[in-house]
Amino acid sequence: MRGLTKAYDGTLAVKGLDLEIKDKEFVVLLGPSGCGKTTTLRCIAGLESPDDGEIYIGDRLVNDLDPKDRNIAMVFQNYALYPHMTVYKNLAFPLENRRIPAAEVDRRVQRTAKLLQIERLLGRKPAQLSGGQQQRVAVGRAIVREPQAFLMDEPLSNLDAKLRVHMRAELKRLQKDIGVTTIYVTHDQVEAMTMADRVAILNGGLLQQFGPPTEIFRSPANQFVGGFIGNPPMNFVEGSLGPKGTFDAGVFQYLLTDDLAAVAGRASSDALVLGIRPQDVQVSLQSSNGPSVQTETFATEPLGDQTILDLKVGETLVKAVVVPDFPADMGTEIWISFPARKVHLFDKKTGKALV
Ligand SMILES: Nc1ncnc2c1ncn2[C@@H]1O[C@H](COP(=O)(O)OP(=O)(O)OP(=O)(O)O)[C@@H](O)[C@H]1O
Ligand SMILES: [Mg+2]
Repeated sequence: MRGLTKAYDGTLAVKGLDLEIKDKEFVVLLGPSGCGKTTTLRCIAGLESPDDGEIYIGDRLVNDLDPKDRNIAMVFQNYALYPHMTVYKNLAFPLENRRIPAAEVDRRVQRTAKLLQIERLLGRKPAQLSGGQQQRVAVGRAIVREPQAFLMDEPLSNLDAKLRVHMRAELKRLQKDIGVTTIYVTHDQVEAMTMADRVAILNGGLLQQFGPPTEIFRSPANQFVGGFIGNPPMNFVEGSLGPKGTFDAGVFQYLLTDDLAAVAGRASSDALVLGIRPQDVQVSLQSSNGPSVQTETFATEPLGDQTILDLKVGETLVKAVVVPDFPADMGTEIWISFPARKVHLFDKKTGKALV
């Protein structure tokens, strides 16, 4: 996609999107509700026509091609199976529509059913299937066409949490086995991180960052990405660069390493935002020799395998992930410090990471 732009009634849904997806790649479009994910997918499929920009599939400019001539298959959130047809017929129908000979249709349906392990279900109607089985049939209907690319719009969101986790792995494996370029839309960050080769993060119709999951987690390009990826979300503390390389948050001053102070000096103004993930906050029951900040435990949130501490510094709450038996209760004094390697600094005015 080059400069893909789409507006509805004057409101821009997608703004100048540039995205190059490699052959056989699994790319996830991730972002909050209304950020333009479905619109992007529909433009690629040909169900919407862009106001500006180009869409290529392989070397073909497809802007003016009908959806049926684009050789891609789309899987929707609501499966859209034909209720009065058997599973077999649901799979065969898109092929028969293309006047593919009956023997070839049967060969492809049988092979797809085997791949998805739904051979036993071929005689049933959609209403006689579980949600996960229906989802498989919907995927099967896309595969059976042997398209050049799959477009999937939140295909797992109707499934319960356990089945979703199961299907997530199945879809990922299937995509690698059949090796078809896939663009997958979700607003679930875990789904995006676990399934994608690369994640494209959108917000307000604008691309925020495009990269492998680990890179997006480790080096968020801006404050939006930092706050969107990761659970619990990254802590943000606003402040400015104070004298002698300190980060001055008002309620506390934190001595930065020389490297971080130099990075902070590159901001467009003196307004900064310090970001630190809850997993990276170091906690101690005593003040240390190095830089640390005194806090008070506001609440503890035990999750079984870990506990989240909500720590109060002035009016700011900082979350820290600790071991389940960490000895803190409401009101316990805790000192926190931020390992320099784990500190993210953002330019408050632009939101951009200062690297
Ligand atoms: N047919 C339409 N007419 C008018 N506005 C639309 C139409 N379709 C989408 N929009 C608007 O375009 C923007 C992008 O919508 P889109 O459906 O692409 O979001 P999304 O990222 O898929 O969100 P969700 O996660 O909720 O599915 C939204 O502001 C939406 O209200
Ligand atoms: Mg959508």
